[in-house]
Amino acid sequence: MPAPTHQDPGLLSDDVARFIPSGVDPSILPRSFALVEPLPARAPVPDSWSVVPRFEGSSNRYIATIPTDPQTSLYGTGEVAGPLCRNGFVTECWAKQPFRIEKDGKPAPHYDEKSKSLYQAHPWVLAVRGDGSAFGVLADTTYRLEIDLRDGIRLGSAQPFPVIVIDCASPQEVVERLSDLTGRIELPPRWTLGYHQCRFSYYPGARVHGLAEEFRKRRLPCDVIWVDIHYMDAYKVFTFDPAGFPDPKATNDFLHRLGFKSVWILDPAVKVEVGYSVYDEGVAEGHFLSDAQGQEHHEWTWPGDAAFPDYTRPETRAWWARLTAEFLEYGMDGVWVDLNEPSPILPLGAELPEDLRHGGGADIPPGVHAQYHNVYGLLMSKATRDAMCKARPNRRPFVLTRSSYLGGQRYAATWTGDNSSTWEHLHWSVPMALNLGLSGQPYSGPDVGGFAGTPSPELFAHWMGVGALLPFFRTHNALHGDQEPWSFGERTEAQSRLALARRYRLLPYLYTLFHDAATMGRPVARPLFFADPADLSLREEDHAFLLGGDLLVQPQLLKADTHAFAVPKGHWRSFTLAGEDPVADPAHPVLRLRDGAILPVGPGGQTSDEAFEGPLTLVVSLDAKGAAVGRLYEDAGEGFGYLEGDYLLTTYRAVLKDGVVELDVAQQEGQRPRPARELHVELLTDAGVVRASEIDGQVVMVQRR
Ligand code: NOJ
Repeated sequence: MPAPTHQDPGLLSDDVARFIPSGVDPSILPRSFALVEPLPARAPVPDSWSVVPRFEGSSNRYIATIPTDPQTSLYGTGEVAGPLCRNGFVTECWAKQPFRIEKDGKPAPHYDEKSKSLYQAHPWVLAVRGDGSAFGVLADTTYRLEIDLRDGIRLGSAQPFPVIVIDCASPQEVVERLSDLTGRIELPPRWTLGYHQCRFSYYPGARVHGLAEEFRKRRLPCDVIWVDIHYMDAYKVFTFDPAGFPDPKATNDFLHRLGFKSVWILDPAVKVEVGYSVYDEGVAEGHFLSDAQGQEHHEWTWPGDAAFPDYTRPETRAWWARLTAEFLEYGMDGVWVDLNEPSPILPLGAELPEDLRHGGGADIPPGVHAQYHNVYGLLMSKATRDAMCKARPNRRPFVLTRSSYLGGQRYAATWTGDNSSTWEHLHWSVPMALNLGLSGQPYSGPDVGGFAGTPSPELFAHWMGVGALLPFFRTHNALHGDQEPWSFGERTEAQSRLALARRYRLLPYLYTLFHDAATMGRPVARPLFFADPADLSLREEDHAFLLGGDLLVQPQLLKADTHAFAVPKGHWRSFTLAGEDPVADPAHPVLRLRDGAILPVGPGGQTSDEAFEGPLTLVVSLDAKGAAVGRLYEDAGEGFGYLEGDYLLTTYRAVLKDGVVELDVAQQEGQRPRPARELHVELLTDAGVVRASEIDGQVVMVQRR
């Protein structure tokens, strides 16, 4: 046995241990941003502990290695493009805006599986052993960190870092333990689970109104319209373009009247312009980052030369929160924070110098940008979220951020940045959401249709089909052609309508999954291997995925249908949602329900509110023993009454007795009264579907055929 290379190992809980390299004074280790709170060691790590990192290096290169055997599959590493399984990949935790030079010599946003870094940093690896047991490795550092998974796990940084290891019987448990350490999402406002329509940019305000009317006229379900940077006056944050958006409140009021919510973008960079109150205040109150000589630092962003708020300072976060709260007075329902890696716009690839000075304050010590770069987006998200909570104490906050760091799910949802309108990027939409989920962030999704480029009608339809089944469902595109569900002709519009109808019918199930994410840290979209972690044939499947534990989604993500899906053991019955055209359209993923599961489905509707009113359908698939169970979480959809018991968590149970399936409420939790509603039961059998109806809360009998 080689001598340990760590000191004072500490058990943080039964299955979590922290290792600190020998020779490093623990008191000089920087504060953790990943952990919700500092965790003291409870006891020494027992000799039986099997995953022990080996530390080496000194002065400016520190390495931690953890060998793995050939059957161990590696995941996580946060926001990464390419396949789900990360064995063989090298990732660098360093938030940045990826780009490439196009054939015409112009730069364009772009990433692919060769990109070592994207917008976020997640120093975290999930390892699933051959027997299905799993461990996770968290490098507790905000500094630039290389994660090399070509031969086991090798972590490298210029600064020493502790390693936290979680070791459990299954990957599900590891991910849940991770959420104990790094936090979980707050239950989002329910409307955010609906469909979002975005573009860079809908301009002027009248176009936003027209867009909203068009959705309602065409009866295409939609909850949220997004407003990108052109609403600003010369791209100055917290201003409005007097010509295009003279009355932002009127725009929001208009959207609200039609049953929409709105989300408006904020960039961190503040235009350098004397007389512009945000800049003047920032200078007067010392909110901007400066260099080692104390000079305010500027970079070129959308409005031109700009200064960057130092979100490590509590005063700056409070200032930002005040500005955001004032902004919210115009009636925005959510805030989108962008370019917060932070990214200058020109020259392409520019980054803030690593020796810029951050002032810190309270529990954040002063430090250089090299230390705080990776948490810039996280701190901006936190300041924005706190502003929303303060401005509207009775409403749930909603922030979408581009950059983040391990633990960022505590403050904001995310999307996978500037993808491209290609089949490859359509495919990556799935593994990217899955790996983010395995890294603690369950609330993510792609720009449906692709941000850069124009999708073919077929590609757009497939993207709508799968996007409808990912946690965050938003179409967004750059300055190219139109990308609304009706922009590609009648057939694509009809396909989009069906994708939207599925989403809205599945909202009760999805909302239940978000509740599980918020309370237990379970990902909403899960890799197929969660169904059977010891089944090696599932480890690389990244077209099909699970929504929760019960719904298997098999999308066609390649232009030609050549993917052979791996399928977990058991009986996964395919089904359609009532009203769907039974003729299979490859744009719509095949849906399969696990045997033994009950899936709650709503009536659908034009808005998420409608989708929670009216009859409830329970789709039942009995297991070999003739039993099935399913859960449904309900609450007001907004506000915090649920924390005081105003919710209803129902466990429905179905049992086959003498040829009759009896379905009842096996358990319920919460004080919210059960809505007086019709209950429809659809029993999936190998011979077809059997239907029955009753009132929710009563025993329903279904004669099995
Ligand atoms: C970059 C973001 O990634 C994109 O989604 C947005 O449309 C543009 N910035 C403009 O705000």
